[in-house]
Amino acid sequence: MTQHQRLLIIDFGSQVTQLIARRLRELNVYCEIRPFNSVTEENLRQMAPKAIILSGGPASVTETDSPRAPQAVFELDVPVFGICYGQQVMMTQLGGRVEAGHHAEYGRAFIAPAPGHKQDGIFAGLFETGREEVWMSHGDRVTEIAPGFEVIGTSPNAPLAMIADEARHFYAVQFHPEVHHTPNGRRMLENFIKLAGFTGDWTMASYKDEAIRKIREQVGDRKVICGLSGGVDSSVAAVLIHEAIGDQLTCVFVDHGLLRQNEADEVVSMFRDNYNIPLIHADESDLFLGSLEGVSDPELKRKTIGKLFIDVFQKYANQIDGAEFLAQGTLYPDVIESVSFSGGPSVTIKSHHNVGGLPEKMGLKLVEPLRELFKDEVRALGRELGLPQSFIGRHPFPGPGLAIRCPGEITRDKLDILRKADAVYIDQIRKHGLYDEIWQAFVAILPVRTVGVMGDGRTYDYACALRAVTSVDGMTADYYPFTHAFLGETATRIINEVKGINRCTYDITSKPPGTIEWE
Ligand code: XMP
Repeated sequence: MTQHQRLLIIDFGSQVTQLIARRLRELNVYCEIRPFNSVTEENLRQMAPKAIILSGGPASVTETDSPRAPQAVFELDVPVFGICYGQQVMMTQLGGRVEAGHHAEYGRAFIAPAPGHKQDGIFAGLFETGREEVWMSHGDRVTEIAPGFEVIGTSPNAPLAMIADEARHFYAVQFHPEVHHTPNGRRMLENFIKLAGFTGDWTMASYKDEAIRKIREQVGDRKVICGLSGGVDSSVAAVLIHEAIGDQLTCVFVDHGLLRQNEADEVVSMFRDNYNIPLIHADESDLFLGSLEGVSDPELKRKTIGKLFIDVFQKYANQIDGAEFLAQGTLYPDVIESVSFSGGPSVTIKSHHNVGGLPEKMGLKLVEPLRELFKDEVRALGRELGLPQSFIGRHPFPGPGLAIRCPGEITRDKLDILRKADAVYIDQIRKHGLYDEIWQAFVAILPVRTVGVMGDGRTYDYACALRAVTSVDGMTADYYPFTHAFLGETATRIINEVKGINRCTYDITSKPPGTIEWE
């Protein structure tokens, strides 16, 4: 368990709960998100948070059986901040009133200061321009505040939008301070943690030392294997574990023949040459590409690759005498239990490939040193560990690799063309200084051939699609607004330099409704 001061976020199922955690982590505060129905009075007291935030959520407190916070939240004598549904829960449980419907507000709204309000506590420093811009998303609203509270700010549709009980350090707002569209939201969160007494002890240097100590404690003198994909997460996990236990760690890098240009060499030399980490380079491209022959269904591709990956990993892991642990680069967003109001399992959009299932089958225990981190924190930890920026700043690359950027049947020829086109595209992006502004960029080779004319001759070659998106976590994404000049220059370079492609398109679909990858 972490030794840091901690803040507890009780999740009522809002789409933006994770953003609360991200904002707090940016302020060097360690926080944990727990679903409302897993927090009991007992574990609340054990956890001993220094402050609590109640998130938004889709339910209505006016309905019977709607979610509530354990009453102990309000009896621990720590500051509590209720956001949207969290505000309504607070009012309901502390003696105020909430009314359903008729006054919905979605999107931008402005809060005016209530007459005679005090700009204290978490609202200190607000209203400099006479009003506060905020982002709302609510149907119900508070109509009567609980005893002890006073109104600090009002919006046309939520007269009790900003309220406080300074004596108990209870605060509540109808809007969402955690989203970027509430420009002073960060200031409110900063004020909140300051008054709760957080000292900002969540830094990567302290995290690194603590993680190393925990790995040593868990592993002792036994051995660990780690599947390396060349991506940021598994690379950072491997370097961290190597720093903790040295040569007790062996990495297995499975080359499935679906990597980008020069990727295998870059990964192998980075681990062997820079870090001297024992590494098995498993070239299994024939096996993977052979098994994928004739497969064009996206889910079948993913399942085939996932299964082979486990078989191959197991084969190499068996060669490592005495391995008892499997290391994985699991991140915090993967372990946050999401609150499901539908009760049913969520729909499978894509079967993600990982080495799940392997630990039980092989009797291995898991080492997951990144379980508490968000992606940007993993990058910060990587920097702390001295990984080269060229590695840390890399765009995410999916486990199934180029297979899912080659819709339809995969052939070696198509993969070669795709690799070359992708390398030109990324080179263009780097040359124009755009690489770090973009979350992920790649080329997909399309299963269509089109007619063109080059020189005096007819061509009949593949079309390709360029993709580039901005995103915070890959869950939602927007296409990147390249200039026409950039797109034109890039298309010309790809068509001139890559034999086999005679047409280039730019994919301007956002996610949703599209996904980032093509399959
Ligand atoms: P989608 O296509 O689902 O992608 O919008 C979201 C992010 O996830 C990556 N991705 C994967 N990563 N195994 C991975 O490790 C997978 O099977 C997989 N599928 C998609 C994708 O590259 C993007 O960053």
